[in-house]
Amino acid sequence: KFPGLALTPPMGWNSWNKFACNVTEDMIRQMADAMVASGMKEAGYTYVNIDDCWHGERDSLGFIHPDPQRFPSGMKALADYVHALGLKLGIYSDAGSQTCGGRPGSRGYEFQDALTYASWGIDYLKYDWCNTEGLKAEGAYKTITAALRKAGRPMVLSICEWGTDVPWTWGQQVGHLWRTTGDIFNCFDCIEDHGTWKSWGVMQILDKQEGLRKYAGPGHWNDPDMLEIGNGRLTPAEDRAHFSMWAMLSAPLMAGNDLRSMAPETKEVLTNKHVIAVNQDSLGVQGFRHTVKDSIETWYKPLHNGEWAICFLNRSTLAVVVHHNWKTVVKDEIFNYELNTEDNTYRLVNLWTGKEQGTTTGMLKYVLPPHDVLMLRAFPPAGIAGRQ
Ligand code: GLA
Repeated sequence: KFPGLALTPPMGWNSWNKFACNVTEDMIRQMADAMVASGMKEAGYTYVNIDDCWHGERDSLGFIHPDPQRFPSGMKALADYVHALGLKLGIYSDAGSQTCGGRPGSRGYEFQDALTYASWGIDYLKYDWCNTEGLKAEGAYKTITAALRKAGRPMVLSICEWGTDVPWTWGQQVGHLWRTTGDIFNCFDCIEDHGTWKSWGVMQILDKQEGLRKYAGPGHWNDPDMLEIGNGRLTPAEDRAHFSMWAMLSAPLMAGNDLRSMAPETKEVLTNKHVIAVNQDSLGVQGFRHTVKDSIETWYKPLHNGEWAICFLNRSTLAVVVHHNWKTVVKDEIFNYELNTEDNTYRLVNLWTGKEQGTTTGMLKYVLPPHDVLMLRAFPPAGIAGRQ
């Protein structure tokens, strides 16, 4: 894979969650414009990613072309437009004969497609796993990586196998991020059964991340799928919780809503600079669930300078009073960090209000509304180093 890319989790927008197969060049242009106008670009979002169904046919020489009705100006022109805004363009293909939406896949055309994408000026490739009978995931993804290297244009490679072939065990060498689960479903806490396959609510996806943090780091991230914030189903509290947890997980932050018509509340969540800073922290250490008590989960994420993000998540549909004794030592056994609030007093900032929230002394008592979070950043006193 290309080195030096995605040193922090990639941020951007993707068409799938809201628009599925309804993609056109006009819509992508408008989305890029909206990314700038809404302040999303300013907040760190860079990639404008076209998902499935942009494809037309292969020509007699095997070159893939975009759908001439949906993308009449062609992909090069679209990439030029997106680049002129200071943004990057992503595209989608599939390791198999056809994409999940039944469009031409890249199987047997990997090197040709990589060259084509490079000639268009593509910056990011999401590479899906439908219709891959007889293929082994690791080998198939290594083929497209080799093809991208050969084509010579730096591109982020997003591995979209759904966790069956344990991509976290081999993905680090091959791509910049890998999906850990099947598709996200626009619901906070439920499973959608499609018969032969299932899609997962925000909390179900969260639970499936257990044990994976040791595989993530700068340039190689676990991908719990794209955001459903602002897609009309989650409550404001749930949107906040979704975004906070994806930040704690060092997940790619791919907005999946219509940026052209965002409600102010949605924009506030997606552009919260404090929460984004937790996600984009230079240490690149994925957070972990430390405690589960009375439907309250307590999550920790080590940050640079010995700072920590701490997130209390209420999974209940009722308000719960969080009681937390700060006299405690939290250890990150895998990356070897320690948060010692027993011997040291950290200053706390509430990342959703942006205000000071006291210090790590005594008991925290806080009424947490249903499906909401209390997300804090803890600043150590002078002289406390993060790494032990
Ligand atoms: C799969 C992927 C989704 C999306 C669709 C497109 O289901 O997991 O993220 O790309 O295909 O068809």
